[in-house]
Amino acid sequence: MSDLVALRAEATSALTGAADLRALDDVRVRFLGKKGAIKALLKKTGQLPPEDRKGWGMQVNALVKEVTSALEGRKAELERAAQEAALEAGWLDPTLPSPRLQGGLHPITKVLMEVVDHFHGLGYSVASGPEIEDAFHNFDALNIPANHPARDVWDTFYLTTGEIPRTHTSSVQIRTLESREPPLRIIAPGKCFRNETIDATHLAAFNQCEGLYIDRNVTVGHLKATLEGLVERLMGRKVPTRFRPAFYPFVEPGLDLDIECIFCIGEGCSICKDSGWIEVIPCGMVHPNVLRACGHDPEEWNGFAFGMGFDRMVMLRYGIDDLRRLYDGNLDLVRKL
Ligand code: PHE
Repeated sequence: MSDLVALRAEATSALTGAADLRALDDVRVRFLGKKGAIKALLKKTGQLPPEDRKGWGMQVNALVKEVTSALEGRKAELERAAQEAALEAGWLDPTLPSPRLQGGLHPITKVLMEVVDHFHGLGYSVASGPEIEDAFHNFDALNIPANHPARDVWDTFYLTTGEIPRTHTSSVQIRTLESREPPLRIIAPGKCFRNETIDATHLAAFNQCEGLYIDRNVTVGHLKATLEGLVERLMGRKVPTRFRPAFYPFVEPGLDLDIECIFCIGEGCSICKDSGWIEVIPCGMVHPNVLRACGHDPEEWNGFAFGMGFDRMVMLRYGIDDLRRLYDGNLDLVRKL
């Protein structure tokens, strides 16, 4: 019996001492193997008096069970440790920043983010509408009836269904006024389409950012301050601006905001067509007919709207002299800016 007790103690300490799976297997062979210490104990059975043999056998078998289950427990422990060590060695943290910046935001995206941020600060939210519009939202509700010559101003594409790839984001003014009650402030950036001859400052598919502010007692002063603030934010400094009278059927009065040509600093060049100014933001006070068409009382509500030529703004912001460069897929543009 004392052999048994001693062997149990020996096996237990050997098991806990086994530092890895190989050492553990050595322990198994040493105690449970065919020539192992426990087998040796069983062999002793024959030497015992017959009445003791059964009890002895049971004791030894109990020890076999005990050691076997302790061995399995230790094995599971060591396997888990081995797995953890392997994970630790090959650890990869996908959230770590890349050592080299792989891409960049397109200048249009960057300016868009800045415009959205600027207007968020003024309490505006971002609205959107479909790129394929109906004549009501693109024209009629904007005070441009079907047979009015003003429709010719927009070189409109028509789908065979009669629908219109929207010629301006002003259609979102209508969608907003239809679905919301004033007071409201929104901007609506988006793609627009016109049958244009493509050159350095004109594209057939381009971006605009509409703005609409409706409240009580809004004045041209509010419009002026809002747009001058926007230009200053985008250009990073105060640049000379001017407002000129202009005609758009959905505003009265209508204005164009020009900024001094950054390419020639007002001297006159091919980009500003020798005028020294570049038109960037058509705008004006929302025409009462627009409010009426959307079910709002122009006696109570008024406001201003603007439709910034977005790509042109990006051009001026980054000093890009040809709009087409923004779309030619040249990665240098994205990497440098
Ligand atoms: N939608 C007009 C255009 O694209 C621009 C504009 C918007 C003018 C809002 C005034 C007010 O020509």
